Amino acid sequence: MTVCRLDKFISSQLNLPRSVCRKLIARGAVTVNGAVLKKPEEKITAETDEVAVGGEAIRYQKHVYIMMNKPKGVLSASTDKTRKTVVDLVPPALFRRTLFPVGRLDRDTTGLLILTDDGDFAHYVISPKSHLKKRYRVLLDAPADASAVKAFRDGITLADGTKCMPAELEISQENPYLVFATIYEGKYHQIKRMFGTLGLGVDELHRVSIGEVSLDENLREGDCRAMKNDEISLIYK
Ligand code: URA
Repeated sequence: MTVCRLDKFISSQLNLPRSVCRKLIARGAVTVNGAVLKKPEEKITAETDEVAVGGEAIRYQKHVYIMMNKPKGVLSASTDKTRKTVVDLVPPALFRRTLFPVGRLDRDTTGLLILTDDGDFAHYVISPKSHLKKRYRVLLDAPADASAVKAFRDGITLADGTKCMPAELEISQENPYLVFATIYEGKYHQIKRMFGTLGLGVDELHRVSIGEVSLDENLREGDCRAMKNDEISLIYK
């Protein structure tokens, strides 16, 4: 059970500054289990107490999990002084000030990115110990062949000596420049560096799935939506 201050609870769930929440409480706009409470420091149990603001009940959500189709040109970060970040793209209805991207996609990479405020979930997704697969669609600057597939399967050693876990590479039947790469970890620029060791450059990189969860085809670049419970539990069992 999560026991917390009334003002903190409202602030986190409605994404309002605490000062605004305190004013709402003082004004008598907040009820807990039907009774008006006027003290912001009053403790409530998030899972069981029914808190309403202006007569509207708050549906408690401990954490948020957002699926985004990351567009090109946007940083995988929470904030940046000058450049646009993925958190800047989250619409107000899904936004929380504590949101951060789960791992990073390069600025020019598109596709599936999860944003959350759940540190344990993020740690699980990122940790190489979880062996969670990440699948990418890659457009190369030269055709791939069977030797690249074998190199992926054997485990590539990057130019700086870093060893990668065995990975999978599928070459499109119609177009040998188009491949699908599946890795089970997430080192810095990993896909580009893996192809680099094979003398292949990456022209386009797009993440299609994490674990068993694929990017929703209805999401256009820059769009996002709340993840469904079954999608969250497919990743984080
Ligand atoms: N590997 C890369 O090289 N870049 C990404 O954005 C993701 C994986």
